Amino acid sequence: MKVLVTGGAGFIGANFVHQTLSERPGTQVTVLDKLTYAGNPASLDDVRDQIVFVQGDVADAEVVDPLVADADLVVHFAAESHNDNSLLDPSPFIQTNLVGTFTLLEAVRRHHVRYHHISTDEVYGDLELDDPSRFTPTTPYNPSSPYSSSKAGSDLLVRAWVRSFGVEATISNCSNNYGPYQHVEKFIPRQITNLIDGVHPKLYGAGENVRDWIHVLDHNRAVWAIIDKGRIGETYLIGADGEMNNKHVVEMILELMGYATNDYKHVNDRPGHDMRYAIDSSKLRAETGWAPQFTSFRDGLADTIEWYRNNEAWWRPQKEATETKYSKQGQ
Ligand code: NAD
Ligand code: TYD
Repeated sequence: MKVLVTGGAGFIGANFVHQTLSERPGTQVTVLDKLTYAGNPASLDDVRDQIVFVQGDVADAEVVDPLVADADLVVHFAAESHNDNSLLDPSPFIQTNLVGTFTLLEAVRRHHVRYHHISTDEVYGDLELDDPSRFTPTTPYNPSSPYSSSKAGSDLLVRAWVRSFGVEATISNCSNNYGPYQHVEKFIPRQITNLIDGVHPKLYGAGENVRDWIHVLDHNRAVWAIIDKGRIGETYLIGADGEMNNKHVVEMILELMGYATNDYKHVNDRPGHDMRYAIDSSKLRAETGWAPQFTSFRDGLADTIEWYRNNEAWWRPQKEATETKYSKQGQ
């Protein structure tokens, strides 16, 4: 099988490429990635001779068309992915997340290629802390930020291309991922690398916001389960019952790294900050048999801390510019 992986030099995509090569021998992988600030070619160094790597834009039809024509399956990870950046400048989010998805959909329609669309639980907006409900595939879309609204729009394009043109597509909406190769702008790697540098972790606002954490390897195994067993046109929510508030996550990182658990700072909150995300993944589990393998968040976090300690050469080049950007926002 020939798989075109967009965004394969990013966090989840790079893990997907590694997992696919090791767990599904015989799969031919082509990566299409623009190598924005978030794409790191070093994430693919150890598999470079096993893949075809194309540097290009998913919104560029001339680049996309021949790659899609040559594939049996497209897995679309490429996106502008960071909420804080979308608040500073939404325009690349509209271009990549909406026009990029449109461009891929037109190509898979032309060439009759199976398509899997990677999305986020943030399309559903947020829940109150005391709300017992969780997101399900029928929860109405209610995105809050330029990031989540552009992802919501891209999901709706996929649904329309399935219904109107018979494109063979599935969609997955996953909760917050953690694990190796995540950019230091994101919450968990930012705090780990701050502590390696002797800097206090930074909590937005009161730190009561809840995210539903899943290890990136479990996310990607679910993606393959949907590709193998999911029904065309369906949406699957991916989550591992990992709800935890940000303060608790920071306390766990501090403890695992040998610091006092109150050794963090509160900084400016994010405008429009979503309070809580929570996923009901029962449809995915019932239809595909998928279950997460990382059942202890603490163990997964300890592995992740170890990875950042052992791979400073991978993250160090991005650290200073990331912190300079945050400090301008008082974060
Ligand atoms: P990331 O920012 O780490 O990586 C994105 C990758 O896409 C980078 O390699 C970047 O160079 C590439 N890219 C950006 N614009 C491009 C373009 N126009 N053309 C080609 N390549 C381009 O993101 P991530 O965290 O790995 O997220 C991957 C996908 O998973 C996204 O669609 C995101 O919405 C979704 N998602 C992420 C999370 C999470 O917790 N990180 C959770 C749920 C869903
Ligand atoms: P983030 O990793 O940006 O993911 P998302 O916005 O997609 O949920 O942030 C996760 C949570 O952590 C979110 O509630 C914002 C918060 N946060 C902090 O408290 N401090 C930080 O330094 C960062 C980057 C995020």
